[in-house]
Amino acid sequence: MPNQKPILHNTLFLLILLSVLTNVGRVISKSTIEPCSNADTCNALLGYTLYTDLKVSEVASLFQVDSIAILTANAIDISYPDVENHILPAQLFLKVPITCSCVDGIRKSVSTKYKTRPSDTLASIADSIYSGLVSADQIKEANSISDPSVLDVGQTLVVPLPCTCFNGTDNSLPAIYLSYVVKPVDTLTGIAARYLTTITDLMNVNAMGSAAIKAGDILAVPLPACASNFPRYASDYGLIVPNGSYAITASHCVQCSCGPGSLKLYCMPSSLAVSCSSMQCRRSNLMLGNATAQQTSAGCNVTSCSYGGYVNGTIISSLSASLQPRCPGTQQFPPLIAPPSSVVHDSVFAPSPSPQSSDGAGTTKPKSTVMPTTTGIVPLLAPASSPVASASSDAWSLVNSLATFPSALLFFLFVNFIMSMSL
Ligand SMILES: *[C@@H]1O[C@H](CO)[C@@H](O)[C@H](O)[C@H]1NC(C)=O
Ligand SMILES: *[C@@H]1O[C@H](CO)[C@@H](O)[C@H](O)[C@H]1NC(C)=O
Ligand SMILES: *[C@@H]1O[C@H](CO)[C@@H](O)[C@H](O)[C@H]1NC(C)=O
Ligand SMILES: *[C@@H]1O[C@H](CO)[C@@H](O)[C@H](O)[C@H]1NC(C)=O
Ligand SMILES: *[C@@H]1O[C@H](CO)[C@@H](O)[C@H](O)[C@H]1NC(C)=O
Repeated sequence: MPNQKPILHNTLFLLILLSVLTNVGRVISKSTIEPCSNADTCNALLGYTLYTDLKVSEVASLFQVDSIAILTANAIDISYPDVENHILPAQLFLKVPITCSCVDGIRKSVSTKYKTRPSDTLASIADSIYSGLVSADQIKEANSISDPSVLDVGQTLVVPLPCTCFNGTDNSLPAIYLSYVVKPVDTLTGIAARYLTTITDLMNVNAMGSAAIKAGDILAVPLPACASNFPRYASDYGLIVPNGSYAITASHCVQCSCGPGSLKLYCMPSSLAVSCSSMQCRRSNLMLGNATAQQTSAGCNVTSCSYGGYVNGTIISSLSASLQPRCPGTQQFPPLIAPPSSVVHDSVFAPSPSPQSSDGAGTTKPKSTVMPTTTGIVPLLAPASSPVASASSDAWSLVNSLATFPSALLFFLFVNFIMSMSL
């Protein structure tokens, strides 16, 4: 069989060529991946576009997060009656707070499980239900599904979701990262404008060689935030709240806000009717968030009672006194919006719409007019290293396309057939 070896070589060559050709026809999506090594986690956000009208609690269960946490992350008024059952409109864009972990050496969130329903396909779960935050191939891989055409109804699937931590900083300032799925109408300029950042910063964070983006790409967008300094043993250690929003912590007892003036985390008792342990600072009559200020000849004597984390079910409060050059003004809060009932179309170049106070007349969250593409992201290969330890990779996989393309298989069989003829 002297001529078998060259044929094998040719076969391999043709297979590679074929897989390259089949991939040219697909939209190749990019996603920013962050290598990691330790078991620590961080707070992160997912940019999620509702595929249909959903109650707040339904969005929460889709991601297995707290309804209140979704509301506060979007500065939606939680005192609105029965707010968890409020129906949010299809196409609304929401920031969903998640915990970002380190799995197999890269940052991702793996705490989301999805229970399949009749007529679900991996593609519909990935592209529609999770609005392109995950690809069908990633779900397939995460759940070792050999035949995606047979999904049992009620089957529980792990839904791996993209997230980054980048040490909770951007240009040395506290930041939380939003995983943003690029929409067909988006440009990098528009995204930078909407999130009050720069093209350069987005390109650095995402290790991009050019400003070109495509629908379906997933970008890590840094949002300026207020960091906490709770002790490591606190259950809310590492809490970080994006500018213009709130977070709820300590078993719903404490709410912490960020901005708009200074980016200093401000925590106070939450407005929810829950039974909580004492939120008064010891040896004082000050409650969490309260401060007294006294003008003296040396400056302003400020005594404040602040939140120090949730430890073993106990709210830690601490009283501190400091002498400041000027007395602080009244605390400013991020404006709240009414629970959205309609989606307002806005220009991609417009900055984030200024929230309106609750007048019940719906709201103004950024949105897109077009659904994400139906092409998913195939698993990542060959990350290129970058100064910020981030890696962006062209997401196409030879192995995968060989396995998924029946044409490749047929071709292979055909070549085998020819080979056996020649023996
Ligand atoms: C991470 O951020 C902290 C401050 O939050 C900083 O002290 C530390 O040097 C940073 N580490 C790296 C690896 O950038
Ligand atoms: C925080 O948000 C407010 C608007 O809510 C904005 O005016 C301010 O510039 C933001 N701060 C930073 C550091 O982005
Ligand atoms: C102290 O905080 C409580 C709860 O946030 C608030 O109701 C009260 O008005 C504050 N008192 C002062 C003196 O700021
Ligand atoms: C600042 O105020 C606290 C209590 O309000 C008081 O105990 C302390 O002596 C004051 N310090 C100065 C320097 O005035
Ligand atoms: C929390 O409680 C456990 C047991 O109840 C105790 O061993 C641990 O030291 C406590 N942690 C802190 C930080 O108080």
